[in-house]
Amino acid sequence: MSRLYNSRKRIIVTGGAGFLGSHLIDRLLDKDHEVICIDNFFTGTKKNVEHLLTHPRFELIRHDITFPLYIEADEIYNLACPASPIHYQHDPVQTTKTSVHGAINMLGLAKRLKCRILQASTSEVYGDPSIHPQTEDYWGNVNPIGRRSCYDEGKRCAETLFFDYHRQHSLEIKVARIFNTYGPRMHPADGRVVSNFIVQALKGEPITLYGDGNQTRSFCYVDDLIDGLIRLMESPADVTGPINLGNPIEFTMRELAELVLSKTGSSSSIVMQPLPQDDPRQRKPDIRLAQERLAWSPKIPLHEGLNPTIDYFRSNWIKTSH
Ligand SMILES: NC(=O)c1ccc[n+]([C@@H]2O[C@H](COP(=O)([O-])OP(=O)(O)OC[C@H]3O[C@@H](n4cnc5c(N)ncnc54)[C@H](O)[C@@H]3O)[C@@H](O)[C@H]2O)c1
Repeated sequence: MSRLYNSRKRIIVTGGAGFLGSHLIDRLLDKDHEVICIDNFFTGTKKNVEHLLTHPRFELIRHDITFPLYIEADEIYNLACPASPIHYQHDPVQTTKTSVHGAINMLGLAKRLKCRILQASTSEVYGDPSIHPQTEDYWGNVNPIGRRSCYDEGKRCAETLFFDYHRQHSLEIKVARIFNTYGPRMHPADGRVVSNFIVQALKGEPITLYGDGNQTRSFCYVDDLIDGLIRLMESPADVTGPINLGNPIEFTMRELAELVLSKTGSSSSIVMQPLPQDDPRQRKPDIRLAQERLAWSPKIPLHEGLNPTIDYFRSNWIKTSH
C-alpha cells in the first residue's frame, strides 16, 4: 500500500519522553502530525512531555520496546535507548536488549505496517576512530567486550538488523548516526560533558576535566539535529543512510569548560581526573553526505546554543538557597 506523504501522518516515536525524542515530538506536532510516544521512562520523564498531555494529536504509552508492540502508524522513529555511559552501563544487558530486541520488535512492526522506520544510531559505532573526521564508510574501531560495548555493539547490531530488513524484506529504512547533541531537557546527572560542566558551573562546584582536557568533541544543538532527523525521514526512499548528523566544529574539553565558565559567570575551578577506559580522543563527523542528500547542515553555533541550555538548567535543576 502506498502512503500519502506531505499529509498528516500518525507517527510513533520510541524514547519520546527523552531528551531528543521530546524535541522531535514537539516538531512533528508543529508539522500537524499525530504522535504516539512510546517510553518506559528509564531515563526519560513525563516532565519532558507534560506540556503535550492534553494535546489532541498526542498520545503517551508506557511500554518497554524489548517487548512486541501492536499499534497502527505511518512512520516510526526508533529513539528508545539510554544514551549516556552512566545510564547505559547501569544495566548493560538491558541496554543491549533495548538496541537489539527493541530493533527487532520495531522493525517487525514496520514490516507489518509497511511503513518507514528511522533508527537513531550513534557516532559510537565508530568506537575510538583511527580516521578523522569519520565518514559513513569507515567501519569503526570498537572494543567488543569493554564497558561501553553494550551500547556501541548494541547500536552496531541494530544497524545490521535495519539493513537486513531492508535487503530481505524491502523495508524502507533510514539510519542516522547522531553525534554529541546538547540542549534543554538533557538529563542533569547523565555524565554528558555539556550538562556536567553547566551543572557544576551553576552550583559553583569544580569542573571535572578528564585526561589533559585536549581531547575534542563536536556539539550539535538539538534544534539542528531534529531538523536533520526529519529531513532524513522525509528523504527519497533510496536514501537509507547510514548518514552522519552532527556539528563538525571541534572544541577541546578545556575550551568548552572555559566557555561554560564565562557564560554562567561562575567562579568554579577546573580539576583534572584520569581519562575513562575506551574514551575516544577525538570525535568529529564528516557531514558531506547529509549536506548533499538532505541539504542539511547545522546552523546554531555552540556559543548560541549554550544560552537556552544554561537557562534550562538554571530554572529547572539548580536549587536556590532562598
Ligand atoms: N543525545 C545525543 O547526543 C545522542 C548521540 C548519539 C545517539 N543518540 C541516540 O538518540 C536516542 C535518544 O537519545 P537521548 O539523548 O534523547 O537519550 P535519553 O536517555 O534522553 O532518551 C532515551 C529515551 O528512551 C527511553 N527508553 C530507554 N530504554 C527503553 C526501552 N527499553 N523501551 C522504551 N523506552 C526506552 C528512555 O526512558 C528515554 O526516554 C538514543 O537512541 C541515543 O542512542 C543520542
